Amino acid sequence: MALREILIAPHPVLQAVAKPVEVVDDQIRTLLDDMLETMYQAPGIGLAAPQVGVGLRVIVVDVVYDPQDPSTRAPLKIINPEIVSLSDEDMTYSEGCLSIPEHYGDVVRPRAIGLKYLDEFGTPKTLEAEDLLAICLQHEIDHLEGILFIDHLSNIKRNMIMRKLLKEKKLRGEFA
Ligand code: NI
Repeated sequence: MALREILIAPHPVLQAVAKPVEVVDDQIRTLLDDMLETMYQAPGIGLAAPQVGVGLRVIVVDVVYDPQDPSTRAPLKIINPEIVSLSDEDMTYSEGCLSIPEHYGDVVRPRAIGLKYLDEFGTPKTLEAEDLLAICLQHEIDHLEGILFIDHLSNIKRNMIMRKLLKEKKLRGEFA
């Protein structure tokens, strides 16, 4: 397992639609393991492949893990996720993103979802998720469509965060 570099917005890969995984092989399993290691180290509760520069429909999530106790790790490895149901009830959560460090904003999403996906062996699975897990999954699946949580905020808030991100990028000597 290896740590991968997390891309910081704005970046073209973060704004692109990711491609479905066609064959779940060792390369994909290595990607999943690397993404988990990178997510735990950050630390974060979810990570999507585009955030490590890979344009594939792969995400990892763990909303259970307590960094004080490694035995609490409960990783979900999710390939080609598809949301099949959304609750009528919404929930507001202050979201952040490893690709948008130090910025947060209230996002309203359905409180519960049903999900279809492939596991790390290519086996079809279903999942009913609610509250933080449902929010986190929707946030990560957004990444596969090139959508960031700031895209759910008001234009004023979004532009303010984007301006700061661009400024920080220039200070680091990177081109946006
Ligand atoms: Ni994110």
